This record gives sequence, structure tokens and C-alpha cells, in this order.
Amino acid sequence: MTFNELILSRQSVRRYAGTAVEPEKLNQCLEAARLAPSASNSQPWKYIVVDQEPLRTEVAKATFSDIQLINKYTLQAPVMIVIVMEKAKLITRLAMLVKKKEWPLIDIGITAEHFCLQAAELGLGTCMIGWFDEDKIKKLLQIPSDKSIGLVISLGYAVEGYPQRTKIRKTVDEMVRYNQY
Ligand SMILES: Cc1cc2nc3c(=O)[nH]c(=O)nc-3n(C[C@H](O)[C@H](O)[C@H](O)COP(=O)(O)O)c2cc1C
Repeated sequence: MTFNELILSRQSVRRYAGTAVEPEKLNQCLEAARLAPSASNSQPWKYIVVDQEPLRTEVAKATFSDIQLINKYTLQAPVMIVIVMEKAKLITRLAMLVKKKEWPLIDIGITAEHFCLQAAELGLGTCMIGWFDEDKIKKLLQIPSDKSIGLVISLGYAVEGYPQRTKIRKTVDEMVRYNQY
């Protein structure tokens, strides 16, 4: 698969088959996530793999509610990944104060995409999930109260025949400016 084919094949999967994820494939995704770049190489993330019942179902349930049902598909995903945001290095935190930026959030986006692209290459489906009940997941996974969760990812095989959607994106013209805004 070329890189272009890979980024075209990665899409948010919202219907999962019951098939379990092979531990070797999960480890490959975690390895890809580990190699992601980050500000000052702080690597401000901790991956929590949730694959045991009833915990997995409980974490899935924390991504939707009676009024927000979009993420109900997570109930089908055999693995839920929770990315906890860790403290960046002191030097990075000082630089963030000066520059008024929140680099760990950016770092988590990059590592998450590494994870999802590796999964796509292995034929696995993922969906990044930003809508979740943070307090509930922190309690379920015994995450210290001073930490925050950056992102949740559902992982598993898409159901057979799951359609490859055409990417809906801004055009390059809409996206790019040369030399001035
Ligand atoms: C930070 C972030 C949060 C997201 N949150 C959710 C979510 O809560 N539920 C969901 O189904 N998809 C979520 N998505 C997936 C996006 O909707 C999806 O990436 C986007 O529509 C593009 O579609 P594609 O991933 O299939 O290319 C999220 C994606 C990102 C990057």
C-alpha cells in the first residue's frame, strides 16, 4: 500500500464485526503510536487498552447518552483505547506558558493518527472519539483525578461490506494560501 492509498483507506469505522483483534496487530498499532513525534519529544500520553468485559462495555457506554447516540456503535468495538494526557517536560510547559499554546493536545492528535493509520494498514477499523464522559471513564479506569483524557479510539474489524466512503474535504484551493492569508 502506498502512503496515499493508506490515508485514503483510513476512515472512521462505526460498525464493527465481533472478530477479536489479534494481540500482535494491536501491539503494532501501539508501536506506531509510540514512535509519534511530540513537542520537545515529551511524549505526553499514556495508552490504556480496554479489552476486558465488563469494563470495555462500560467505557463504550461512557461515549454516548440518551440524548447523544452517535457513539453507540462503540458497544460493538472489541477494543477501546483511552489516551490519557500526561504532563509535558518542564521546558515544554514553560515554553507553552510563554507561547500560550497547548502542545500536548497536538501531540495526542499526532500519536492517535499514527495508531489509526497503522490499524488501517493492518485491515483494522478505528474511530477517534472526542465526545465522552471524562469523569466516568476516569473512574472506571482509575485514572488519577489531576489527569485528563485526550481522546478515545474504538478499534476492531469493520463489518463485512462496510463501505469505503469518498472523503468529504475542503478543496486544496479552500485550504491553501501562498505567502499571505
Ligand atoms: C478529535 C476528534 C474527535 C472526534 N470525535 C468523534 C466522535 O465523538 N464520534 C464519532 O463518531 N466520530 C468522531 N470523530 C471522527 C470524525 O467525525 C471523522 O474523522 C471525520 O468526520 C472525517 O471522517 P473520516 O475519519 O471517515 O475520514 C472525531 C475525530 C477527531 C479527529
